Amino acid sequence: MDVREVAVVGLGTMGAGIAEVFARAGLAVVAIEVDPGALERGLAALDRSLARAVTRGKLTEPERADILGRVRPAAGFAAAAGADLAVEVVPERMEIKRQVFAELDRVCRPDAVLVTNTSSLSVTAIAAGTADPARVAGVHFFNPAPVMRLVEVVTTVRTAPEIGQALTDLARRLGKTPVRVPDRAGFIVNALLLPYLNHAARLLETGYASREDIDAAATAGLGLPLGPLALLDLIGLDTSLSILEVLHAEFGGPRFKAAPVLRRLVEAGLTGRKTGRGFYDYQQRESAAPPGPASIPDAEPAAGPATVMLIGGGAGPGTPLGAMIGAAGWPLAAVPGGPGRHGGHRGGAPDDNDPDSNLPHDDGPGGLIIVHAKEPGTGVLGAALATGRAADAVGLHLASDQLAELIITPMSAPGAVRAAAGLAARLGVTVVRCPDRPGFLAGALFYPHLNDAVRMVQDGYASPADIDTAMTLGCGYPRGPLQLLDAAGPGRALAVLTQMHERYGDPAFAPAPLLAENAAARLAFR
Ligand code: 3HC
Repeated sequence: MDVREVAVVGLGTMGAGIAEVFARAGLAVVAIEVDPGALERGLAALDRSLARAVTRGKLTEPERADILGRVRPAAGFAAAAGADLAVEVVPERMEIKRQVFAELDRVCRPDAVLVTNTSSLSVTAIAAGTADPARVAGVHFFNPAPVMRLVEVVTTVRTAPEIGQALTDLARRLGKTPVRVPDRAGFIVNALLLPYLNHAARLLETGYASREDIDAAATAGLGLPLGPLALLDLIGLDTSLSILEVLHAEFGGPRFKAAPVLRRLVEAGLTGRKTGRGFYDYQQRESAAPPGPASIPDAEPAAGPATVMLIGGGAGPGTPLGAMIGAAGWPLAAVPGGPGRHGGHRGGAPDDNDPDSNLPHDDGPGGLIIVHAKEPGTGVLGAALATGRAADAVGLHLASDQLAELIITPMSAPGAVRAAAGLAARLGVTVVRCPDRPGFLAGALFYPHLNDAVRMVQDGYASPADIDTAMTLGCGYPRGPLQLLDAAGPGRALAVLTQMHERYGDPAFAPAPLLAENAAARLAFR
């Protein structure tokens, strides 16, 4: 396949980026958009992207002019007549895609290859509506297309074998890394990404954690470039909702059932960055960029607790958490009675006969009890109750070297939470708040995501290596899901998922059998 001219049909967010990718690789591009307004906006986006590359010293002014000169805008399909390859990038609706392919069938040369950038629809069904399904395939780019290095090359049972190979070679010519996948809804990336993003939306709408904290758990906890809610805004909430609907239709199950908040935001027209507002408001200057580390608005770093007692999880001044608390300026109080017994500044050991001793109260920062949670399980409440001073107790879990989770039980008094937040803010890591539920925040968000990746391997759809390549190059993950799972330990993931499954009774969290097998055999996935 000798590709010199490419017709890109549809100049929305993805179409403009894809046109840029082809033009930058030296190919002639016919940019077809039947809506004049959309054509103008798409060309403006292309212009902005190239101008930014010049500003950043990535392109020279003459190179920018050359690239722009290779893009020929057109308002009708007839312009695709000379194309060797046509790439459809129109909205995710089967009837629209089929109309576009009918037009391409009519105008394109018989030897031209026709591909769809669909993110989840059946390429097979799109191809079946054309005169020659053998020349139809899927080539799926990632947003922003000029930046993300992955391309999923999707072939159907009808695609001519040489076309799959030719598209793989072409992706390399574009500077991308291709991953070949069979035609299944969501392919690799969206089938893994969307349920994770959806779960994040559900955690937000159920009040499990704040918007900023959910995103910070991903960025500080796993080093992802964007948190899930900011990423939903980037992809577009309408696009995300359509993909979830297709995934739900194909696979069923609660992981793919769209969170109501997602649907409501789409109904309200708040579809993310492209409309200026989604989960975040991009029209207000201060929130135009996705948020950085979580803020603790009502923390009281100056006040701090008078004493801090660290209990549980091998607690003590010698532990990393003990050392961090000491370095933050609050010496640790000894645990009265030695190991296994917990007392407090207000009168020693818990008084089991005092029914009020555990009741919430709010008398400002005093002796704070921190339950050191070593594993992302539950158990903070139990340990807090055992002290007899549950109102003074919160949990702290160091989820990574960048992220601490502040675990608030139903008994934690507001004053204790504020004092702990103030202290945590001085630990030199990002701090997020969450309830005492399995996985806390980062674990609750990610272990189901990693479990989905294991299930994809178990299904025989993609190899661990391809999944990791897809998520690192398609979504900027520092490491792929199977690598992350190996680093965390399949056993730990299994434990958290088992607890989530038991606690919520939701099949979404049932550990994949392959995960249980690898955990039992102590086998890594990579
Ligand atoms: N168009 C072109 N280039 C862009 C761009 C855009 N919209 N946005 C950013 N860039 C370029 C910048 O010019 C810069 O280039 P340089 O390094 O050559 O100078 C580079 O990207 C980094 O940009 P910034 O420094 O401004 O910003 P960040 O470092 O914050 O990176 C990001 C931005 C690349 C978007 C990063 O946040 C990221 O990787 N996010 C993950 C995105 C992701 O997961 N995409 C996949 C979504 S799923 C999908 O698309 C499938 C679909 O079917 C739904």
